[in-house]
Order: sequence, then C-alpha cells, then structure tokens
Amino acid sequence: MKENVEKKKRVFSGVQPTGQIHIGNYVGAISLWVENQDLYDNIFCIVDLHSLTIPENIAPEYLRRKVREVAALYLACGIDPEKSTIFVQSQVPEHAELTWLLNCVTPIGWLERMTQYKSKSAEMETVGTGLFDYPVLMAADILLYDTDLVPVGDDQKQHIEITRDIAQRFNHLYGEVFKIPDGLFRESGARIMGLDTPEVKMSKSLGEMKKRHSIGLLDSEEDIRDAIMRATTDSNMETRYEYASPGVKNLLVLYEVLTGSSREEVEEHFSGKNYGTLKKELVEVVLDTLRPIQQKYNEIVNEEGYLDNILNEGRMRAKEIASATIARVKEHMGLTL
Ligand code: TYM
Repeated sequence: MKENVEKKKRVFSGVQPTGQIHIGNYVGAISLWVENQDLYDNIFCIVDLHSLTIPENIAPEYLRRKVREVAALYLACGIDPEKSTIFVQSQVPEHAELTWLLNCVTPIGWLERMTQYKSKSAEMETVGTGLFDYPVLMAADILLYDTDLVPVGDDQKQHIEITRDIAQRFNHLYGEVFKIPDGLFRESGARIMGLDTPEVKMSKSLGEMKKRHSIGLLDSEEDIRDAIMRATTDSNMETRYEYASPGVKNLLVLYEVLTGSSREEVEEHFSGKNYGTLKKELVEVVLDTLRPIQQKYNEIVNEEGYLDNILNEGRMRAKEIASATIARVKEHMGLTL
C-alpha cells in the first residue's frame, strides 16, 4: 500500500484566501483536484502569504477568517484529508526561505514581463515588492514539494511557465535539484468568465464588489438565481459553442462541467431552446452542486477542533517534505558549514 502511494505523481495547488471564492475557482481548480484525488499524492495549500500582496484586502481578522473559510471549503468540496494534505502556507516557513534563494537566480526581466503583475500594479498607487515577487513565491510553493503536476485555471499558465524557467535555471547553475513541473488544466472550464461581464474572467475581487459578477460557493439560493437569470447574453438564440456569444458560451461551459456532459450532449440538449431555459436549468444544476457543499461547510465550521486538527497534521507533513528540499537546496548552494 505504502509503496503504491510513493509511486503516485505529486500534485500541488493552492487558492488565495481573499475575496469571494467562486464557481470559477471551483470549476477551474478545486473540482479538478477532487476528481483526480485518487490518482495522485496531493498537497493543497491555502496561500496566505500571497494574499498579503494586495494590501487593501488585508485586515488581520479578515485574513484569519478567510484562511479558515478556504480550508473548510476545500474539505466541503470533497478534498479528503485521508488522501490529501491540506495546510496553510505561512505555517511552513520554508516557503519564504526558498523564495529568497530563488530570488537570487531569477532575472528581474522575467518578473517585469508577468501580465498579472502588470495589470495589478497598474491599478495601484504604491506597488509592494511582494507583488513583484509573487511568481517567485509561487515557484517556491511548487518546487518545495517535488511537484509533478499543478492543477490550476488557465490564468496561472504564465506562473507555471516561470516556475519551470526558474527551476531550470537553478538546476543549470547548481545541479539537478528541482523536478520540472507541468500545469494541469481543464479542457473546458479552465477560464470561467464574469456573468455580468463575459469579456473578463470571473474574479474574486470583482465578486466581492459587484453583486451579479460571480457565484460565490457560499451564496444564497436567491443570489445564485438572480446572478444566473440576469447573466449577460444577447438577442439571438444560438446555443452552439462555436457561434455562441461569450456570455452564452460561458453558461454552456458551466452547465457542461457541472453536469459532467460532453459539448455534443450539451448542444443537443439545448438545441432549439431559448436562453431562459438554459439559465433556468443552469440555476438548478448550480444549486444541486452547491447545496451539499454548503451543508458540509456548515458542519465543518461548527465542529470544534476539526479544522485545526487537519491543518495541524497537514502542516507537519508539508514541513517534513519542505525541510528536506531546503536542506538539499542549501547543500547545492554552499549554504552548509
Ligand atoms: P487564485 O486564488 O486566484 O485562484 C485559485 C484557483 O482558481 C483558478 N481560477 C479560475 N479558474 C477558472 N475560471 C476562473 N475565472 C478562475 N479564477 C481563478 C486559478 O487559476 C487557481 O487555480 N497564484 C494562485 C495561487 C497559488 C498557487 C500556488 C496555485 C499560489 N501558489 C502554487 C498553484 C500552485 C492564485 O492566485 O490563485
């Protein structure tokens, strides 16, 4: 049994504990983790150090609450602590330590090219060094665990690429220390768009600011119904993916992933039906998906000590792997006496 576990490929991924965790996070990432949970040796992190890069969001009490919320949501969505390690990034200091070591092999030009950095920093009056360095911390997260696969939404593609580049550069300079990871993306659903603005991706921060932008995993039935029924469509009646407008396509993709159907099945199902029918059916599918998650979430947060035990065990397992990697890295860099 143990041997089997050791042969499995290692998966690592994470969610930032800020804003409203939404159906895009679920479809693009968390549900993909759950689907593949038996295939891999899984490590899922709540990346609180990354959240500090957007200072407006971060009041200490808010961050503390969000970290617990995300951990409970992982479990409520079906991450099984018997099969997966769940832990909080800041509780394993090796993440920060490896970031520094990787900083020293990462050319500034690579970070200046990052599109998320460019768009986020453009909106800020003062840009923190942490925001600039965000991709290196993410590379440290992934490389600390000898990760094979990183299941994420497609907005993270550039971050996976730079992680590979940093690992390769390090290996070139210091010898073969890091495994080179690959991203793992859904074919359909890797980028869910805003319901009100289907030209931009659904985002946690917009979800917190605008009522009908996203569907939060903990939203009320009324809000979910409202967001879907008022989602932006068009004045046609086109439910074929190839010809559908971005808003309609987004609804079709959500329906497809959440029902586990193929594109052909979805097209056939909605052929000749109007958008009202698509929306009504999608409301039911989303509610059927989220009801058990919300119920389990409530049970978890009300069970005294449950979450803390899981996070504590997760921390210990993560720490064990991470500290072995750091020792290896330091040895190769000459940071041992
Ligand atoms: P974050 O917190 O923004 O998002 C969490 C996960 O959800 C995916 N996602 C989406 N998928 C489909 N449609 C969308 N509209 C959508 N919005 C978000 C993201 O791609 C992500 O998989 N940098 C990461 C967190 C991170 C990380 C890591 C991930 C830090 N270290 C190491 C993997 C491995 C982020 O900000 O995700």
